[in-house]
Amino acid sequence: MNYLPQLTTPSDALNWATERHREGSTIALVPTMGALHQGHAALIQRANELCDLTVVSIFVNPTQFDRTSDFDTYPRTLDDDIALCATTGVDAVYTPTAEAMYPAGFDTSIDPGALATRWEGEHRAGHFSGVATVVTKLFTAVQPDIAVFGEKDFQQLAIIKHVVRDLGLAVEILGEPTVRETDGLAMSSRNVRLAPDARKSATAIHRSMAEAIRSATPSSSASDIIEHVDRRISEAGGVVEYVAVVDPNTLEPVTTLKQRSQLLVAAWFGDVRLIDNSTIPSQP
Ligand code: PAJ
Repeated sequence: MNYLPQLTTPSDALNWATERHREGSTIALVPTMGALHQGHAALIQRANELCDLTVVSIFVNPTQFDRTSDFDTYPRTLDDDIALCATTGVDAVYTPTAEAMYPAGFDTSIDPGALATRWEGEHRAGHFSGVATVVTKLFTAVQPDIAVFGEKDFQQLAIIKHVVRDLGLAVEILGEPTVRETDGLAMSSRNVRLAPDARKSATAIHRSMAEAIRSATPSSSASDIIEHVDRRISEAGGVVEYVAVVDPNTLEPVTTLKQRSQLLVAAWFGDVRLIDNSTIPSQP
């Protein structure tokens, strides 16, 4: 196994990145909270294709958790994560401590505005401010030319693009399609917390989205889709938090399916909250 540099403070990361840029290398960053799975591996693969060097950051960011229990039980598998990085062509991992990221007196945060108020933002107070702030700090330390995010977190991706544009950050943001288990469940670090029954039932999320989209016709409305997904998830034993059909850019709800739109879902299976989304092609 090759030696993999592990950067642990913002200044370590900045010095490493400055040196690599001086040598003429481009850098792609894949920000993560660890518990890496094949979804993360797909982002790493894309990053490897796009830049000379790939950095993976692993930091379970306390400021984006609205529930302490979720933060406390978030899976932490650093040794396995570093092993995965070492075998997937990663050039450095950035694993700052909370103290290094948020030293005493830290009191600045980014408010990503209207895009962050709906859906995840409505149900997870402060979540996107925490995400936007930590991602901006990761960009400042790693100085990436490109950063790769998953479409799995559709609203997060839209918000990061928006923040980068508004603040004029010199990084290009790319989105990668969602990687799924063979039964359709979107890969997620939280899936390991699903009890066996809940794990089986949770396939209803993707199945119901696929059914609703497949059966959409020019006369279907957004509410037909929402009603179908809501009912099927509930029948499977899930507790729906929201199902929405939105404009993919503004994330505002739409009523017709004339334009391409995005179906967003959040639901609980047992004590695990899952999110997923799917594109609804236009129904002309
Ligand atoms: P995390 O949940 O670890 O996800 C890291 C990246 O992997 C995100 O861009 C996410 O969208 C992507 N990802 C997760 N599951 C995926 C899947 N099944 N297929 C494809 N991509 C997937 O998202 C975060 O961490 C944090 O909010 C972070 C951006 C790191 C800020 O703390």
